[in-house]
Amino acid sequence: MTFLITAGPTREAIDPVRYISNRSSGKMGYAIAEAGLDAGHEVILISGPVNLEPPLNTKFISVSTSDEMFEAVHQHTDSSDICVLCAAVADYKPAKVSSVKIKKGTARLSLELIPTRDILQSLGQRQDREFLLVGFAAETDQLEANGTKKLREKNCDIIIANDARIAMESDENELLILFRDGEKKKISRSPKQFLARELVKIFSNSQQKSLTKKM
Ligand code: C5P
Repeated sequence: MTFLITAGPTREAIDPVRYISNRSSGKMGYAIAEAGLDAGHEVILISGPVNLEPPLNTKFISVSTSDEMFEAVHQHTDSSDICVLCAAVADYKPAKVSSVKIKKGTARLSLELIPTRDILQSLGQRQDREFLLVGFAAETDQLEANGTKKLREKNCDIIIANDARIAMESDENELLILFRDGEKKKISRSPKQFLARELVKIFSNSQQKSLTKKM
């Protein structure tokens, strides 16, 4: 099967030297890419800027902004069986990007921000989709309720809810896996490499099941 995986943060430019971003390390997405390859799958890895080497044998696409990630994802979904959107895409970007460096002053400075496009939601809205759609929900509270809400709103097949305080920039994570049919599975705190291998098995089984149902 072919996996499409997004990973890492995005950068939203304020001016030529400054940007808005977040603390995503990309480790979870890269670990899933690695586990997918180890299990014999093809992997397309679309990544924001991180300090990690892409696993050998991935089709690697490096992006910076949420708009670049959006375009890259949409270009490759039709050749993918399983789309795992793991990236911590910025939720907002500056309404205007200054073409010159904004000079320091003593007065207050406000930035007007506008929402970025939600890549996961845009894939969930596709009526014709045949790929399995997996999203992540990094939360600080009410993991299950917030994850379930995201599953419905973004029309995914699976949401992986995790505690942002454990997950961010860390080598470990703890997962609550929520399925479209209401099934739930918890995996207690473990290294991201171990979790990634479990996730790859779960995703391939789910996609296999839905293909069998359609036949
Ligand atoms: O709404 P929230 O950002 O918490 O949703 C997280 C999920 O949505 C993750 O799977 C993330 O990769 C995806 N997402 C996206 N595009 C955005 C924002 C989030 O694909 N602009």
